[in-house]
Amino acid sequence: MKIYATLLLSSAILLSPITMAKMASADESVIAERQSNFKQTGMAMRMMRGHIQAGDFEAISASADAISNWAQAMPDFFPQGTGPDDVSTRTAANQSIWDRWDEFTALANDNYDAAMTLKVAASNEDSGAVMEAMQNLGRTCGACHSPFKD
Ligand code: HEC
Repeated sequence: MKIYATLLLSSAILLSPITMAKMASADESVIAERQSNFKQTGMAMRMMRGHIQAGDFEAISASADAISNWAQAMPDFFPQGTGPDDVSTRTAANQSIWDRWDEFTALANDNYDAAMTLKVAASNEDSGAVMEAMQNLGRTCGACHSPFKD
């Protein structure tokens, strides 16, 4: 009986780090994915300036499309348990995202709307509207970063 209890205890000790390691890696991969998507968005925004200077409306439209797709998917890449209090991975996500979730998703939605407005302006080949939409889109990035990105 004593041996059995010891066996049970040791298997519990052996199991728990494995389970924890598995959970940590799922969280780490979603964090890595969102960071990679944000990096691509940052790159798309930098390239957008070149597209605007070149008057390349097709490229503006394609980039705006990619940004809007990411804006729509964004909340799914912030599951519970992927904040700085929960993981050892480096993340610039502020823990308050999960306390003020509705505010966070509303800001992602503003980002989506602004990207769609830019896309429409590009398909109308309206340079003035493109400039205005681009500025507004940039503001929606900052509007989320200031409360929610450290
Ligand atoms: C609704 C909130 C929100 C919006 C909108 C948003 N971001 Fe972010 N962004 C974040 C958060 C949170 C992080 C930190 C992610 C992490 O480290 O886990 C981040 C990280 C980043 C990073 C750093 C990625 C890295 O790890 O190197 C870049 C670049 C970035 N965002 C660019 C943008 C651009 C450009 C836009 C607008 C087109 C934008 N973001 C819109 C919340 C947002």
